[in-house]
Amino acid sequence: MKIAMIGAGYVGLVSGVCFSDFGHQVVCVEKNTAKLEMLQRGEVPIYEPGLDILMHKNVAEGRLHFTQDMASALKDADAVFIAVGTPARRGDGFADLTYVYETAREIGELITTPIVVVTKSTVPVGTNREVARIISACQPAAAFSVASNPEFLREGSAIEDFMHPDRVVVGVENSDAEEVLRRIYRPLSLRETPLLVTNLETAEIIKYAANAFLATKITFINEIANLCEVTGGDVQQVAKGIGLDGRIGGKFLHAGPGYGGSCFPKDTQALAQSGREYGAPQTIVETVIKVNEARKHDMSSKIIAACDGEVDGKTIAVLGVTFKPNTDDMRDAPSLTILPALQQAGAKIRICDPQGRREGEKLLPGADWLDDPYDAATAADALVIITEWNAFRGLDLERIASSMRGSALIDLRNIYHRDEVSAAGLTYFAVGKGVPQA
Ligand code: UGA
Repeated sequence: MKIAMIGAGYVGLVSGVCFSDFGHQVVCVEKNTAKLEMLQRGEVPIYEPGLDILMHKNVAEGRLHFTQDMASALKDADAVFIAVGTPARRGDGFADLTYVYETAREIGELITTPIVVVTKSTVPVGTNREVARIISACQPAAAFSVASNPEFLREGSAIEDFMHPDRVVVGVENSDAEEVLRRIYRPLSLRETPLLVTNLETAEIIKYAANAFLATKITFINEIANLCEVTGGDVQQVAKGIGLDGRIGGKFLHAGPGYGGSCFPKDTQALAQSGREYGAPQTIVETVIKVNEARKHDMSSKIIAACDGEVDGKTIAVLGVTFKPNTDDMRDAPSLTILPALQQAGAKIRICDPQGRREGEKLLPGADWLDDPYDAATAADALVIITEWNAFRGLDLERIASSMRGSALIDLRNIYHRDEVSAAGLTYFAVGKGVPQA
């Protein structure tokens, strides 16, 4: 199959690379000249494990190309995927569809042969019908159909998620479009990956419902963590105890500093906005958004409390500031709320993060950056773990304890155990682990 992929951001680049690895001919169209030149030089503009190797392989084997020229990419293509950004619009939280609609207009002007226009960007319910309307308005005789094919990959494990998805969702209006998408995803049928065919609206809602449900699960366990802390419960055991019930499942029940990233915060906002717009309020999601926002602020209070209620003039070492491990992405990372609040209270911040520095330096002014966690901890009054990178999971706690000035280890991801931390001479503060009442 011949595929044009519009937008070489996270979803577009990973999808384009993986489709070419399926054996399809893929042309990725990227308008940003600096990004395009990087891609043409063989450089990957994002940090995603394994992506560079797969990209180089498929470029070398002649199945993957990068261009700025949409007309040449669309020539004889069976399908064009729209994978441009849909950032949250300032003010109302609605997904900004400017780039999606601009792309639809350009496609509408350039269609010469029958093509399926597939939206992969996360777009609110109703968007695909508007894409179809825009294309028809540009060229009333154009032979095309639209399809919705939301993406469920996670940053940091994007290749694995794309190659081994739990399911593929395809929203279509006719069997021709369904057939094209079935052929594109045929390599996955060998693994018996379920391919769910729905109408356009259903596919659009599935994407938001999935992300909102996962965000709800995280927020739920975070509130349960609060109850554990004040009563003597252990949230990890509660998560296990409920997660073993097959109807609930144990995934996405890790209590922490609140969810962040480029998807959950934006998509929960957009779903809530769709609910308001269509008169079907999403009150659970509205509450999840509020609770998650408050949680990030509560984390700075928790850190201050662990420092005997005062951080003015104290040095706090921070391990991990990206929104999760294995990414350099800082978008809506909890650290962006927690650390400025500590600075505001007078703390000096020293950060160590395996990939976060490039973006983080711009977003967290006034902090010092160190490459080594032990250097970050040296002479610090407290050590805080915000993001659970593997590099922070097996630290020599005695070495840390002997180099710190203070003794508080605040582990917002529960990667250590109280006993080992105490044995090293540090005072442990976890999430959702209370001390049983006598
Ligand atoms: C999320 C979804 O998991 C993907 O399925 C989806 O395709 C993607 O959004 C998207 O819409 O593009 P992602 O944002 O990459 O993927 O990251 P997640 O692994 O889902 O983590 C999101 C946030 O939740 C992180 O801040 C993470 O630390 C937090 N989290 C996750 C928890 O606090 N606890 C958990 O148990 C799981």
